[in-house]
Amino acid sequence: MEKIVISGGKKLCGKIDVSGAKNAALAIIPGAILAQDVCRIENIPNISDVAMMLKILSHIGAKVRAINEHTVEIDSTNIISHTVSHDLTKYFRASYYMIGALLGRFSKARVAMPGGCDFGGVRPIDQHIKGFELLGASIFLDEDAIVDASADSLTGTNVYLDTVSVGATVNIMLASVKAKGMTVIENAAKEPHVVDLANFLNSMGADVRGAGTDVIKIRGADSLHGCTYSIIPDQIEAGTYMVAVAAAGGDVLINNVIPKHLDSITAKLVECGIEIDEFDESVLVRSFGRPTKCNIKTMPHPGFPTDMQPQMAVLLSLASGTSIINEGVWDSRFRYVEQLSRMGVSIKVDGKLAVIEGVDHLKGAPVKADDLRAGAAMVIAGLAARGTTEIENVIYIDRGYEDIVEKLRSVGADISRVTVPGMEFAVAN
Ligand code: UD1
Repeated sequence: MEKIVISGGKKLCGKIDVSGAKNAALAIIPGAILAQDVCRIENIPNISDVAMMLKILSHIGAKVRAINEHTVEIDSTNIISHTVSHDLTKYFRASYYMIGALLGRFSKARVAMPGGCDFGGVRPIDQHIKGFELLGASIFLDEDAIVDASADSLTGTNVYLDTVSVGATVNIMLASVKAKGMTVIENAAKEPHVVDLANFLNSMGADVRGAGTDVIKIRGADSLHGCTYSIIPDQIEAGTYMVAVAAAGGDVLINNVIPKHLDSITAKLVECGIEIDEFDESVLVRSFGRPTKCNIKTMPHPGFPTDMQPQMAVLLSLASGTSIINEGVWDSRFRYVEQLSRMGVSIKVDGKLAVIEGVDHLKGAPVKADDLRAGAAMVIAGLAARGTTEIENVIYIDRGYEDIVEKLRSVGADISRVTVPGMEFAVAN
């Protein structure tokens, strides 16, 4: 196993290229099985969650061929199985997109319940199930925690989501794209990766309209064909590096981004006194003094993303004054505070609220990543802290950040990965 070791206090300077979006790739790759054809997908991030999703596709009989580090060809012509077992789903949440994709392809799916980041509360899938059932599928959860979904055929319908859910929106899109007639998803999620999935499906010949608004209309297609598609840049990876520069100080061009997708993050950083210039495909982040306090409420897109909340908590820990974070998406997402306390943050958590008293500086310490974004927050804390920070459970960080150590080192961070013999393997579920 490996640790990330950071000697903090170095200003960051230079350019970082952002990879393709994890959450878009994790929706699009299963989408490729909806055509009995070949899809070439470009700008795929080289991260472990994506590797697991590609492994699932190989496992059910798709031919997956790496063209280069960021391009794969998926030939779904001869898929032989509609079953995905627990050993393949236990590592990551988005494995549940195989239910929608297999239903869309075969009108049947047997997929083990997903693992994934544990934020400390429940992560229900009732809205996914509701959508599948409204489309005409019968759903059973067997004693081995396998979701068994089947239908004679799927028929378009109206689905009103009781809560705005990215996962349910994506899964219902995947299941309905070849259903008979029209499906309307109301109160749909509007995240950039939902729009990216719609664009991908339309490149395959689907008829998906309204993605990016809260009503998505899907007219079922008889068949889909292969396509070549390039995934959007990762909004959260970009935001993480923006906050890293803001916290550590310096001057970095974050490149290969869609600045519009970063609006809520940019707005909050500007409120904290960070200078940001937007260009066509990049943002320049400059940070020279102590950030100022600000309050944040996380919300579905276009609100401030919950997946940036732990990283912002680190920045606000260094701000002058008291800030409040209100977690508006997950019941509980402050488990990382306990680890950050070792580095000197002053954060009091009460349910969905965190009150953050800015401190003058953080100090390096040994910490453990509890989940993906918590791990990113610890990297940022380590970059800004005085002294050495050692982060365990790097596998969580590898799930969503391609070459994080190399990218940060290239802008002047003193950061490395070290192998720790004998450290136990931590499973991400
Ligand atoms: C996705 C992201 C995750 C991000 C989250 C919110 C992926 C692979 N993961 O997760 O990183 O934190 O969006 O932006 O894209 N809910 C229900 N019933 C359901 C589904 C969700 O009540 O059937 C609730 C959840 O408990 C949560 C809220 O809806 O409170 C949002 O969840 P959702 O958008 O579904 O998150 P994920 O798709 O799991």
